Amino acid sequence: MITLSHVYKTFDRGLSYAVEDLSFVVEEGETLVLLGSSGCGKTTTLKMINRLIEPSKGIVKVGGRDVMAQDPVTLRLSIGYVFQGIGLFPHMTIWENVGLTLRLLKWPKPRQHDRVEELLHLVGLPPEDYADRFPNELSGGQQQRVGVARALAANPKFLLMDEPFGALDSLTRKALQRELLEIKTRLKKTIIFVTHDVTEALLLADRVAIIHNGRLEQLDTGSDVLKRPGTPFVRDLLSGSDGRTAGE
Ligand SMILES: Nc1ncnc2c1ncn2[C@@H]1O[C@H](COP(=O)(O)OP(=O)(O)OP(=O)(O)O)[C@@H](O)[C@H]1O
Ligand SMILES: [Mg+2]
Repeated sequence: MITLSHVYKTFDRGLSYAVEDLSFVVEEGETLVLLGSSGCGKTTTLKMINRLIEPSKGIVKVGGRDVMAQDPVTLRLSIGYVFQGIGLFPHMTIWENVGLTLRLLKWPKPRQHDRVEELLHLVGLPPEDYADRFPNELSGGQQQRVGVARALAANPKFLLMDEPFGALDSLTRKALQRELLEIKTRLKKTIIFVTHDVTEALLLADRVAIIHNGRLEQLDTGSDVLKRPGTPFVRDLLSGSDGRTAGE
């Protein structure tokens, strides 16, 4: 379970808030999608969950424990994180990037090997073709898939995914969305998924949290949000989209 209670984040000593009085609970096995336009505070929210950013006020709990009371490195190793804009290590091969967490967690070598091989197949990058390349020798979409594989590597209970499919063509994107749906039902992961794409949000979410200017506008199931948009902003975001991309 992931819980945020009245969380605030200011980068300018309170002159403005990137995240303001945000509270929500993500249940075990649930996928919550954070939906909102550029700059609304989605990445800041995700980063406060694994302590890449510390809240200015309020409490974040992962697995029932306040993150500020946990060792940040141990915390981060227990949470899969797909960074916006990929975030692969340029000096490591694809194989090394995907296996990074497994090395840090000191999995036995043969198990690491099998797992990395399995993950590369899972994201459609056969190891015989891709394992020894470096990130700059892959397309943007391929790099994003490596980022997803890396986050899944240690089978974390919690997954934080920051616009993980943003740079993909629609076919690959759909394939990975299907893959994620399958992963979440099969492995019962607790997922927070960030997107500005309404269709993607409605497809993947058990519940959608719509954020505007750092504040929560509405948190509901996709069908409830569509049926009963709670604020003018939500209505505008969804209006006429019928699930089309918010930014289109
Ligand atoms: N380190 C920082 N220092 C100062 N301001 C920051 C910092 N990080 C984020 N911000 C500001 O906080 C606000 C929220 O940023 P955030 O990255 O969370 O947005 P986002 O919803 O992820 O946007 P996008 O969809 O463009 O990725 C923005 O106004 C941003 O400029
Ligand atoms: Mg962002």
